[in-house]
Amino acid sequence: MEFQNKKVIINTFVNTKFLTANHNKGNSYWFTTQLLEWNHIDNDRMMPWKGEKDPYKIWLSEIILQQTRVEQGRAYYNRFINQFPTIQQLASATDITVFKLWEGLGYYSRCKNLLETARFISGSLAGIFPRTYDEILQLKGIGPYTAAAISSFAYDLPHAVVDGNVMRVLARFFAIGDPVDSTVGKKLFTSVAGKLLDTKSPATYNQAIMDFGATVCKPQSPLCSSCCLVSKCAAFRSGSVDLYPVKINKLVKRNRWFYYIVAEYKGKFLIRKRTRKDIWQNLYEFILVENDKIITYKKLLFTKKIAMIIGDNYKVLGISKQYRQQLTHQTIHGCFIHIEWDKKHQLDEFIAVTRSGLDKLAFPRFITKYFADEGHRFSNQNGKI
Ligand code: ADE
Repeated sequence: MEFQNKKVIINTFVNTKFLTANHNKGNSYWFTTQLLEWNHIDNDRMMPWKGEKDPYKIWLSEIILQQTRVEQGRAYYNRFINQFPTIQQLASATDITVFKLWEGLGYYSRCKNLLETARFISGSLAGIFPRTYDEILQLKGIGPYTAAAISSFAYDLPHAVVDGNVMRVLARFFAIGDPVDSTVGKKLFTSVAGKLLDTKSPATYNQAIMDFGATVCKPQSPLCSSCCLVSKCAAFRSGSVDLYPVKINKLVKRNRWFYYIVAEYKGKFLIRKRTRKDIWQNLYEFILVENDKIITYKKLLFTKKIAMIIGDNYKVLGISKQYRQQLTHQTIHGCFIHIEWDKKHQLDEFIAVTRSGLDKLAFPRFITKYFADEGHRFSNQNGKI
C-alpha cells in the first residue's frame, strides 16, 4: 500500500512536469494527426458497428461493449440486431426475451435500462432518438461516455469519448499520474481528450483512439516499437510505460459460496426469479443455500437450513463439480446438488418448470455453465425433458 502511494506521488510529479511540457497546442496537433494517419493507413480493425450511423445500433453496441470484449460482443450485437432491427422492435419485446438474449453478459441492470429507454424513446419520443449530447445524456442508463459515443458516431458532434482505452493512451503519452478511477483524474482526462479531439471528424477520431488503445497501446505488452506516437510518448521516454495508467481502487473481492439444490419432481425443476437487491437481479435460479465458507455437500445436506427447505425425503441424483464465477466485486464459488423429490413440494416464490421451459428463461452464467456441463443429467429415460 505504501509502495502504491509512493508510485502515485512519483507519477503525479512526472505528470505535472510532462503535462506542461508535452501538452501544448503543437503536441496536441501532432498527437491527433499521427493518430488519424495511423487510422487511415494501419488500422484494419473490423467490427460490425464501425461506421454505423443509426444511433440505436451504436447505443446497443456501446452498452454491450461495456460488458464484454469486442470478440464476444460481436455475437451478442448480431443476435440483438437480427432479432430487433429497430428500436421499436426492441421496445415491444417481452422482458423475458430480451433478458434471454442478454444472458451471459452480466450486470442485468444495464439490460433493464436498455429496455426501459427503448420503450421510452418508442413511446414518448415517437421512436426518434434524441439528437443532442445533453438530451442523450438524460436517457436512463446512458452516461457521459455513451452519450459522447452516440452523438459523435451518429451525428458527428464534437464530443470526445473517454473510456479505459482512451485514458490508458493519454495517461502514457502525457505521463498523467492522476488515478483514472478518481474524480480529479476523470476530469483531467476528459479535458485533455476534448483538446485532442479532431472536431472536423469526431466519429473517425473517436473510433481511431479506441482502436489504437485496444490494438497498439494495449494494457499488457503494448506495441511500443511500432507505435506512431512513441517519439513523443512521455511514459516511453522515461521507461515507465507499465506504470500507467495509475489506479487507486484495488478492489477487495468478497467470496461467497452458493450451493444450489436442483430439485426435480416428475421432470419439472423448482426455480424462482431473483428479486432482491443483490447480484443477478431478475435472473432465475434453483433453490439456493448460501454459506459464508466452503462446505462439503454431505455436511450441507445435514444442516438445519437444508432440512427446513427440502426435508429428508429425497434422493440425490448427482453432485456437480465445483464452479467459480468472477464478478467485478465478488467471487462466487459453489456446486449443484441434483435431487429427486418423491412428492410435489410447494415452496414460496418457486415455480416448477420443464427442461424446455428452463431454456426460455435467463439464468446467471454460473448456472448456464452447469447446464452445459451436465446436460445429460437433465434428460430422463423417456428423453422428454
Ligand atoms: N469499445 C467500446 N466502444 C468501442 C468501439 N466503438 N469500438 C471499439 N471498441 C470499443
